[in-house]
Amino acid sequence: MILVTGGAGFIGSNFVLDWIASTDEPVVNLDVLSYSGNLRNLASLQGNTRHVFVRGDICDRPLIDQLLAEHRPRAIVHLAAESHVDRSIHGPGAFLRSNVEGTFVLLEAVRAHWSGLAAAEREAFRFLHVSTDEVFGSLEPEAPAFTETHCYDPSSPYAASKAASDHLARAWHRTYDLPVVTTNCSNNYGPYQFPEKLIPLTIVNALAGKALPVYGDGLQVRDWLYVGDHCSAIRTVLERGRVGEVYNIGGWNESANIDTVRCVCNLLDELRPDPLGSNDRLIRFVTDRPGHDRRYAIDARKIGRELGWRPAETFETGIRKTVEWYLTHADWVREVQSGSYRDWVAQNYATRTAGPA
Ligand code: NAD
Ligand code: TYD
Repeated sequence: MILVTGGAGFIGSNFVLDWIASTDEPVVNLDVLSYSGNLRNLASLQGNTRHVFVRGDICDRPLIDQLLAEHRPRAIVHLAAESHVDRSIHGPGAFLRSNVEGTFVLLEAVRAHWSGLAAAEREAFRFLHVSTDEVFGSLEPEAPAFTETHCYDPSSPYAASKAASDHLARAWHRTYDLPVVTTNCSNNYGPYQFPEKLIPLTIVNALAGKALPVYGDGLQVRDWLYVGDHCSAIRTVLERGRVGEVYNIGGWNESANIDTVRCVCNLLDELRPDPLGSNDRLIRFVTDRPGHDRRYAIDARKIGRELGWRPAETFETGIRKTVEWYLTHADWVREVQSGSYRDWVAQNYATRTAGPA
């Protein structure tokens, strides 16, 4: 059995569903169910005895000790984190708590558990730390993509907190021999992504006839990976990744934000035409994000070369699946757009003034 943290969030729930579908192994899913954690994502697993959900905090050491003793997982897949850059700008404290302190508590609990295992189990054990390309900071337009050895230069409180957690995970390997493997992945998109992030926000706003906010000039570049490909990469690294190593994960899909938004608009025009006209009429350039990184790009050659992993989706196939998913899951969208979601939208967008069209 494996223990997943953050398995009710966007990537975590996709990972748990994928794990149950593609392996025979049970999974314990520890998630505090913050605003972005949603048990509805896992509704299809109701009654499935291979999925054990535990509502709890990764900062709660006694709870983690108890879960490790009771379930004796052979691996940890650590996804739990505060994950949204804009929220980290408004309130960095929650990011330091969950991402830094939470990772520390988890590492310490796992180290105590792992030290007490028999030699063969200790040897086979893995702590897979899931991180982001944002720890590397911003790339110049023509600079080569981030490799695993690119220096850390985080810009946002979110990225700084993830960078700190990466350093902790690496140090726990070097100092205590804990069998840690780290992944740094580019921007994900796909089903169950909370509509605070660019792609689902654009879809749900367009469907509601609301403005599509593009920060600054919209020429910031992100490197998009379909979430199902991230899940297959995590499974691959868990199976064959070398202990102590870092693997970058990406989809070789760099796109400027304005092009990404226009692409979503075009798909919606095709799949759900709006009698009022093309969805791109709703695009609004608004005040930029402070400390906004200009470009991310992942060099994913190492995971391809060493572990044989390749993404299955192109941006064209993945974004079509994603838009179709949101069109066919209106109930899910309605439910997550609750009172607290509306409060967040008001807080983040009310003070952003319109920029150049
Ligand atoms: P998400 O916000 O959708 O999900 C995070 C989950 O973690 C939620 O279910 C939340 O309830 C849970 N959580 C938060 N704090 C917790 C705590 N203290 N204890 C227990 N559970 C807690 O985020 P996501 O996009 O699914 O990201 C998951 C992981 O992947 C994060 O570590 C993130 O840094 C990393 N990542 C995300 C992306 C991306 O594009 N979304 C890219 C690369 C890496
Ligand atoms: P986001 O989805 O928040 O992911 P991240 O900040 O982790 O990359 O944002 C993706 C890009 O889209 C980023 O450059 C910021 C930009 N963006 C907008 O232009 N408008 C928005 O309303 C949001 C949420 C993001």
